[in-house]
Amino acid sequence: MTVVNTIRVNGVDHEIPANWQAKRLLDYLRTELKLVGVKEGCGEGDCGACTVLVDGEPMCSCLLLSGVVGGREVTTIEGLPREYLDKFSSACETHGGVQCGFCTGGVAVMSSWMKNGGTETGVEPVSKLLEGNICRCGGYQQLTNAIADIN
Ligand code: FES
Ligand code: FES
Repeated sequence: MTVVNTIRVNGVDHEIPANWQAKRLLDYLRTELKLVGVKEGCGEGDCGACTVLVDGEPMCSCLLLSGVVGGREVTTIEGLPREYLDKFSSACETHGGVQCGFCTGGVAVMSSWMKNGGTETGVEPVSKLLEGNICRCGGYQQLTNAIADIN
């Protein structure tokens, strides 16, 4: 079996060092690549703070080993288009969707996935798809409204 040890992160190719192959993608992104918009909440796949896109699909980076994503394309909040982030942040401001901000990176990644065809537009599907993103400040309705506004 051929081991692919490069990944494309936010449009840039990286060689995954051997000592990172069996470690979590979450740690590789935050520690090696300094992409600290990816947060660790639960570390168990339940809170969504660590959400990234892998080949365009949302996944919890705390549940993936770096070596497993070899050859694939990863997008973090830092890699989302500037224009989209500006819209997202302005909608969050309008609707009061950001409080402490800990969940925001994962929510922004989910929101961009919805925008790119991950769901139908409208409040109901957005709230359903945000079920995997825990906001400990309890801003679900505000976030749902903000995302529905821009998607
Ligand atoms: S840190 Fe990955 S889902 Fe909570
Ligand atoms: S704004 Fe604080 S966790 Fe969501």
